Amino acid sequence: MQSKRRVSIIGTGSYVPEKVLTNQDLEAIVETSDEWIYSRTGMRERHIAAPEQATSDLGAEAAKKAISDAGIDVAEIDLIIVATLSPDMFFPSTACFVQDKIGAKNAYCFDLGAACSGFLYAMDTAKNMIASGAAETALVIGSEKMSTFIDWEDRATCILFGDGAGAAVLRAGGEGRGVMDAVMGSDGSLADLLSTPGGGSRNPMTHEMLDQKMQYLQMQGREVFKHAVTRMTETVISTLEKNNISADEVKCFIPHQANIRIIDAIAKKLKVADRMYSNVDKYANTSSAALAIALDEAVKDGTIRKGDLVVLTVFGGGFTWGANVLEWGK
Ligand code: UT7
Repeated sequence: MQSKRRVSIIGTGSYVPEKVLTNQDLEAIVETSDEWIYSRTGMRERHIAAPEQATSDLGAEAAKKAISDAGIDVAEIDLIIVATLSPDMFFPSTACFVQDKIGAKNAYCFDLGAACSGFLYAMDTAKNMIASGAAETALVIGSEKMSTFIDWEDRATCILFGDGAGAAVLRAGGEGRGVMDAVMGSDGSLADLLSTPGGGSRNPMTHEMLDQKMQYLQMQGREVFKHAVTRMTETVISTLEKNNISADEVKCFIPHQANIRIIDAIAKKLKVADRMYSNVDKYANTSSAALAIALDEAVKDGTIRKGDLVVLTVFGGGFTWGANVLEWGK
């Protein structure tokens, strides 16, 4: 058995569809206001995929950019993991569709289900597979067409989500400490607070199920909010403690982009408001894509530079959560 190897992110990319849906646009769809949405969530606008675009199309666009950023040949990718809660189909996996679209013939591919936490779960999985020697070069993607699974008559949820994708290429080696360590957690007893209950084997696709709108995302917003703040804060602290790193040493914290009030609450508890990254105003909550898009933007806009310590943290349905720490090596 091979010993554990260092693993680095060697490229990132992201893609959002062209169409922008503003808060003002939403005022014409449900009874809401720009003032309510912005003050409660920090969101100004979100991107919505075209009818002919599926989740794998968004993911493939982000993947192409990440591969180009990494400067590798697509044939070098031997693992593709797509984190999504809005797959093209139940099966085959969205990862297989992405593989075909980008021509990554040498990869083995699967989807990973951890709702909004999916990108960090997928990064942790890929990192551990590379560290163990089971893979060399992994493409990790968070991609969502949330607009398909949203009830556009429910103002409590339809204003919150957007479509998009982000990707990262991970590889053995690199400078610095790379993707160092993660602390992950789940609590299935709270699954009902955030779910899409219909369409699977529990509540199969029937006319009755569709009439009850069970194919759409349902959420107890206030409860989810409280758990999101607590879990992301606790997990960041555990990750830092486990790796003997103080919050002062971290250049940038990137949390899941679900609500600016959640992000602000975590920043206040950790006393890191000056280093908390957010782009929720532009994209709203893109579920598993949110962290991936934010990471790519933070790298491209110069917030994250070579040698910086970065902490990523997520929370989502399941419940699922996690945090990791990495040293940027590019
Ligand atoms: O990605 C996974 C993680 N997801 C999250 O972390 C989301 C967590 N939850 C949240 O971000 C917030 O709970 C929401 C933004 C979803 C809601 O904010 P809130 O401050 O918790 O509001 P609320 O749901 O308690 O609703 C307050 C009021 C209600 O009216 P009454 O009952 O007080 O008269 C709602 O009916 O606001 C009303 N309301 C709206 N009003 C205008 C709910 N949605 C809207 C809307 N426009 N879109």
